[in-house]
Amino acid sequence: MTQPVRVGIVGLGTVGSGVVRLLMESADHITRHAGRPIVVERAVCRDPARDRGLRLPADRVSTDIRDVSRDPSITVAALLVGGLEPARSMMIDLLEHGKDVVTANKALLAEHGPELFELARKKGRSIAFEAAVAGGIPIVAAIAECLAANRIESIRGILNGTSNFILSTMEEEGADYADVLKLAQAKGFAEADPAMDVDGTDATQKLAILAHLAFGVWVPWGDIPRTGIEGVDSDLMAYAGELGYRIRLVAVASRSGGKLAMRLAPALVKVGTPLAETRGAYNAVSLVGDAVGRMFFHGLGAGQMPTASAVVADIIDTVVGRAAITFRTTGVLDTDGPAARMGGMDTLEKHFLRVCVNDLPGVLSRITGILGEHGISIASVIQHDPSGASGAAVPLVIMTHACSTAAVERAVAHIDASDVVSGKTVCLSVLDE
Ligand code: NDP
Ligand code: HSE
Repeated sequence: MTQPVRVGIVGLGTVGSGVVRLLMESADHITRHAGRPIVVERAVCRDPARDRGLRLPADRVSTDIRDVSRDPSITVAALLVGGLEPARSMMIDLLEHGKDVVTANKALLAEHGPELFELARKKGRSIAFEAAVAGGIPIVAAIAECLAANRIESIRGILNGTSNFILSTMEEEGADYADVLKLAQAKGFAEADPAMDVDGTDATQKLAILAHLAFGVWVPWGDIPRTGIEGVDSDLMAYAGELGYRIRLVAVASRSGGKLAMRLAPALVKVGTPLAETRGAYNAVSLVGDAVGRMFFHGLGAGQMPTASAVVADIIDTVVGRAAITFRTTGVLDTDGPAARMGGMDTLEKHFLRVCVNDLPGVLSRITGILGEHGISIASVIQHDPSGASGAAVPLVIMTHACSTAAVERAVAHIDASDVVSGKTVCLSVLDE
């Protein structure tokens, strides 16, 4: 019988427990794919006494990363601790001690990727990270390997399961934001700090990693304009629905004229299109390659077993040597690569505006006049019968025809500085396909 490969699991939370379960419960199947058995030699967590329902002997679980990094029988480690520290120090310790590493920690890669990948190269080790972007969807392998013949022109996607779960559950069940967020946490979708999910940090970090793979340039995630879902309320969803749209948190990256335009923001997506039909913890990625054309990927982007599926596939790739080849040949997160030339996202798009106006005669013409001054043409307007007194604040909803994003931003600033509004205008892009 071929010698088994011994792996160390660092972190036994939602994802780590799923990885142990999958390695044990699907051992025969995994052995067939890896060419030899893969066994969990040791695991590390904060609280080894906690019952996680795993068939791991107690003497194999500890709190000390050195029990994995210094064990010469372990060749591959799965780093499934979130956040930056101690995850960064753990990754360094594992690489320094000759382990190949598999991780799902996108925050760590987006923040310290170049440093960690350089160390891995220096040590002749590999880092595989399929689970770090879009959970169970094999988008990293698709871009880095399967679509390698293509120049990727654009990527658009839903990259955070928690925020998609919140938006779609609020919309479909009229549920309360705070209640749905708690449910997402209970289901294991959310980050340890769920602010990372709802303020768009997590999706932006994933977008930075995807853009690097697709466009070959390293974009610091903090340079990407980002708006989370905190400002999306049930009122906005109802207006979007009335116009035939849903609201989703959409990541966009596109290349044009040597420049890269990227953003993460809530957008209106047309009912019936794949992004609008992406519900719950599902993620979606739509990309355009110059040879292959448009492709669409859809699957669970968060949750225990979908994420474990990606981690275990990376462990198998590492065991059979595929991860090392990809790591070496793609130059992934190579700091010697060109810096990104970022451009503004000044595409021609339809926009949805919710202006909070004082309900007085002449206000509608003032607002449409300002839009006209900025060259923005209006497709439709909704103003429901106001229930309050004359002069009370009421929402005025406007859908524009396709127009320049920069022009809309200037018009919104102009509207918000005028004396006919009593609140900040909400402006969202509208995606019809
Ligand atoms: P959890 O919070 O559920 O698990 C984290 C694990 O790390 C816990 O087992 C914890 O131990 C352990 N840990 C934390 N600090 C230490 C430490 N100092 N020493 C040893 N162990 C430590 O997180 P998830 O499993 O949800 O996520 C793990 C990673 O995977 C994150 O980077 C996340 O972004 C990413 N990810 C998560 C997905 C999901 O759906 N949950 C999907 C895709 C990626 P203990 O249990 O004892 O507290
Ligand atoms: N918190 C993340 C999400 C986990 O909700 O998408 C998957 O990366």
